[in-house]
Amino acid sequence: MGLNDQTRRQEWWRHAVTYQIYPRSFADGNGDGVGDLPGITSRLPYLRDLGVDAIWLSPFYTSPQRDHGYDVADYRDIDPLFGTLSDADDMIERAHELGLKVIVDLVPNHTSSEHEWFRAALAAGPGSPERDRYVFRDAGPDGSLPNNWMSVFGGPAWTQAPAGPGEKEQYYLHLFDSSQPDLNWRNPEVGDMFVEVLRFWLDRGVDGFRVDVAHGLFKEEGLRDQVVEAGRTASSDARDAADVPMVERTLRDEPMWDQPEVHDVYRRWHEVLAKYDGDRMFVAEAWTQTPESMAAYVRPDEFSQAFNFAWLLASWSAEEFAEVVRGTMEAVGLVGGSPTWVLSNHDVVRHVTRYGGGALGLARAKAATLTMLALPGSAYLYQGEELGLPEVDVAAEHKQDPLFIRTGEGGRDGCRVPIPWSGAAAPYGFGPGGEQPWIPQPDDWAPVTVEAETGDADSTLEFYRAALAARRTFATSAGDDVELLELGADVVAFRRGPVTAVLNCGTEPVALPAGSVFLASGPVGDTLPPDTAAWLR
Ligand code: GLC
Repeated sequence: MGLNDQTRRQEWWRHAVTYQIYPRSFADGNGDGVGDLPGITSRLPYLRDLGVDAIWLSPFYTSPQRDHGYDVADYRDIDPLFGTLSDADDMIERAHELGLKVIVDLVPNHTSSEHEWFRAALAAGPGSPERDRYVFRDAGPDGSLPNNWMSVFGGPAWTQAPAGPGEKEQYYLHLFDSSQPDLNWRNPEVGDMFVEVLRFWLDRGVDGFRVDVAHGLFKEEGLRDQVVEAGRTASSDARDAADVPMVERTLRDEPMWDQPEVHDVYRRWHEVLAKYDGDRMFVAEAWTQTPESMAAYVRPDEFSQAFNFAWLLASWSAEEFAEVVRGTMEAVGLVGGSPTWVLSNHDVVRHVTRYGGGALGLARAKAATLTMLALPGSAYLYQGEELGLPEVDVAAEHKQDPLFIRTGEGGRDGCRVPIPWSGAAAPYGFGPGGEQPWIPQPDDWAPVTVEAETGDADSTLEFYRAALAARRTFATSAGDDVELLELGADVVAFRRGPVTAVLNCGTEPVALPAGSVFLASGPVGDTLPPDTAAWLR
């Protein structure tokens, strides 16, 4: 290994465990029922003690909150709901004092419709340089839409812009909500603006960026219709594939995603980050269709990492899990990148519930987590998973997700319910007083508060603490090689450095390989029970 390789291997993010904070639901400092930056700062010692290395915060920028901050009106200021720039500085400083790195969210595919650029675009009218920063197109002669693209949140991806007297009728593109107009990345002003935004936050001391919809930005020139297979809707985002078994997935036609031009943007950003000290990093939220297309985002001169959604999308099957490990290590190996693992985030059903809910779902969730924490690369945790929180069945009148508002179905509110910190009833210490949070918490959460789980050796929280502590002692030195072991069709097993990890996805106990168990996700005897994982050495 050459000197360069050695330096690269030591970058903090290659082995980090990063904890995702969804600011409005983490901790409320001012008692308005919505989480905020001072609330986060006050709880940072909890995260240090949990044993994570970094935090990633979903957006806290100025925003009308139509998509809870993923609709940014000003990339260089804080929404008053969350605090001020000085609160952000305090949060970053405190995190660094505690040895935690800070990753912030960057949303470059679209702005809010209240961003000054979009207001100017509407005011300036068709053909103007202001409209050229977004994707405006003339309506057809009969008023028809420019193409057949659908919004990820349901309905057409086009909304008509108000037309002044005598003006041509135009539509603007929004691959998400109509309040999230897509930027035109073929206009150089757009790229220049984002470089300024990166520098703004790097200068304030952030250690990295999580890049929202990194597979977006560029659309195929000409904006042709998407070819839609029979029986499938045109709404296209690879996460829709969650309910299609991996083996049956075929590639979809996606002229709106994953275009080759996008990689030039990330090469430029890579150079911007490289000029700063301290191994600044950026991680892609890229819902690409294959491990190979994901790997393209983590070539040595692009992103540091990309979320590995294949792990999250895998169903409870040893075959699928093992296949994802194999495929990920291969794909990432091709470009010398570092793998990532994630089971939950603010967009998907919590993994306790995905794996069946109740005691079974929790056992499986802990087992999958323990398996993931033994793998090389870095792991991303989502707030509340360390408490074993399930998805909440949120009543329709409380749902705020634009996905639900546009379609009347589903929505991601159920994984965004505020964290229960203490006490026997809602709001479970979420804020300083008795104010109820922006979305109601269930009545039966008293046993899963941080307070209730702390010190209880059988709790999910103490399990996470033990697992993260154990990982710290070996993960950074265990190397990146994984040797998959054949222990039967229902078992995922691999050796990494001194540790062997075994996961039983079947219905019968299985024999353990040689070694002594030093950590397990549930009770283990001479054999490994179903829905359980163990680490041996
Ligand atoms: C990403 C975010 C999601 C958001 C969408 C639009 O997928 O994770 O929460 O709604 O982008 O910005």
